[in-house]
Amino acid sequence: MHDDIEHILISEEEIQTKIKEMGKAISEEYDSRFPLVIGVLKGALPFMADIIKRVETHLEIDFMDVSSYGKGTVSSGEVKIIKDLDTTVEGRDVIILEDIIDSGITLNYLISLIKHRGAKSVKIITLLDKPDGRKVDLVPDVAGFIVPDAFVVGYGLDFAERYRNLPYIGVLKPKIYNNEAAASETL
Ligand code: PRP
Ligand code: MN
Ligand code: MG
Repeated sequence: MHDDIEHILISEEEIQTKIKEMGKAISEEYDSRFPLVIGVLKGALPFMADIIKRVETHLEIDFMDVSSYGKGTVSSGEVKIIKDLDTTVEGRDVIILEDIIDSGITLNYLISLIKHRGAKSVKIITLLDKPDGRKVDLVPDVAGFIVPDAFVVGYGLDFAERYRNLPYIGVLKPKIYNNEAAASETL
């Protein structure tokens, strides 16, 4: 698995140090506000698991799974809900956690949905931001690291559902994504 990585972009230690800082900031800003922390499946899972442990105030967690159509090609902004929240967001201070913002289409949709449902506030916290990929105007409130327009995987980010379990963020070797057929063969 590690052999498929061209180079490590952000080490495990760098990620964890950043998450500690981010968690501290959330603790201060949301003290006594009982925020609803929403993780966007599946990519946000490792980030969410680590950051909530660094928050020192009460919080509630929930999950959403969405899939966007025409990804990478059409900027339709059309997003389908695969799994909705169990929680009512009305009147809540919502924090949306993402592993990466690329085109911005996924979050653009989620933000309007959650605002429409009457959230008191919505904050976007992403571990990675890839501003070069943007198709809609969206700036996160907090971004851990800015990444270049490369094929990054690991720490939740996948290529064909693989590599999410890497503890670091790495750039995938081009031969891996140039040969998707060969990749699925070894599944
Ligand atoms: C990835 C990533 C973000 C989204 C960002 O999720 O985890 O959720 O794409 O892309 P965007 O800014 O262009 O919308 P994906 O839809 O691949 O699902 P996954 O998290 O299950 O991998
Ligand atoms: Mn995702
Ligand atoms: Mg994905």
